[in-house]
Amino acid sequence: MTGSPSDVPPLKVLQVGAGGMGRAWLSAIAANPDVELVGLVDLDAAVAAAALAAAPAGLSERDVTVGTDLLEVARTSGASAVVDVTVPTAHHPVTTAALFAGLDVLGEKPVTETVAEALSLVAATQLTGRRFVVSQSRRFNQQAFQLRAFAQALGAAGTLACEFFKAPHFGGFREQMPHPLLVDMAIHQFDLARFVLDADPVAVYAEAFNPRWSWYAGDASAVATFEMSDGSRFSYSGSWCAPGLETSWNGSWRLSAEGGSAIWTGDDAPSVESVEPIDVAEVADPGRELAGSLAAFVAGIRDGAPLMCEAADNVLSLAMVEAAVASATSGQRVAIDDVLDRAYEAALARETRDDVREALAAWPSVLEGLASPAV
Ligand SMILES: NC(=O)c1ccc[n+]([C@@H]2O[C@H](COP(=O)([O-])OP(=O)(O)OC[C@H]3O[C@@H](n4cnc5c(N)ncnc54)[C@H](O)[C@@H]3O)[C@@H](O)[C@H]2O)c1
Repeated sequence: MTGSPSDVPPLKVLQVGAGGMGRAWLSAIAANPDVELVGLVDLDAAVAAAALAAAPAGLSERDVTVGTDLLEVARTSGASAVVDVTVPTAHHPVTTAALFAGLDVLGEKPVTETVAEALSLVAATQLTGRRFVVSQSRRFNQQAFQLRAFAQALGAAGTLACEFFKAPHFGGFREQMPHPLLVDMAIHQFDLARFVLDADPVAVYAEAFNPRWSWYAGDASAVATFEMSDGSRFSYSGSWCAPGLETSWNGSWRLSAEGGSAIWTGDDAPSVESVEPIDVAEVADPGRELAGSLAAFVAGIRDGAPLMCEAADNVLSLAMVEAAVASATSGQRVAIDDVLDRAYEAALARETRDDVREALAAWPSVLEGLASPAV
């Protein structure tokens, strides 16, 4: 149980990364009395100082250690957990350093840039006994929990479909990436599909393409069909250059199941129509997006209970992205097991820490390794 601020001291956190999303995290931390910001780190100290100065009142006035070196700020600030809001390429080094310094980590999505790096971090959690939870903030939405409750009440799932059509002009790196939609955005919907179906991916066939009018250099549109472990199919269709009648940022959803159907616009309460009357479980409000994700992390650190987006589980959401890109590139159906096996070989080959490589090498298989407890 989460204690009230009066009877349990707040969790001392150190935030790494003070860019666009870092500022949103500073606001989420400021709004949660169960956490206390004691340090803020960025490669650019001026960026960190400016973000702190712009943070909500209360945070900027506190005694927060600002610096460019995670380990040094961790030592001087007395932090016991890290909120990692750095760019994806930094997630692996930042999280490795934090875990081996004895800190628990709540990290922005994606877990890491590659599945191989994610496997390395799971082994690091097992070696250190520290927690690494990924903030899949779009799960933290009462409407998504409601859709999941409908799915549970409707019985065997047939098809879960998600349409994601937006037309943002971001400028910057997204307009230069080879797969902006699949790599930067689709992880949210892929992860939500796992959550709603309570099933894991088995294989995918995907196509990625760039419409003639696209303002992106890479493929801004994609379709993907995933076979899921419950026998259902998750079909995703999306575009980032789709002006007119845009969907919500969560996407527009339809579940077809044995007992009926449910739909969700991603912005409004989902609706359900069943063949027979159904019993739908009450759904508590998990808190919205970053606030919900942070509250769940604090509760999990305090009571030690498993959390739904621990890295060992979240690896499978990133594997969906990597498999979809591999399928779109090769034109072949791609099995998730093959993605995991290739990532495992790469993780062993590239690991720079002997202790992590030995821990990885001791896994009987990737899935058994992911399920292993701390050593
Ligand atoms: N959940 C969401 O809806 C959502 C939305 C946007 C971004 N994100 C994620 O948030 C993360 C950050 O995105 P952003 O848009 O804030 O990026 P950004 O580029 O605006 O900011 C990243 C910051 O991290 C700093 N940084 C990079 N490497 C570092 C390191 N090794 N140590 C310390 N600081 C380092 C950079 O200097 C920069 O200030 C990414 O993983 C991104 O995918 C999530």
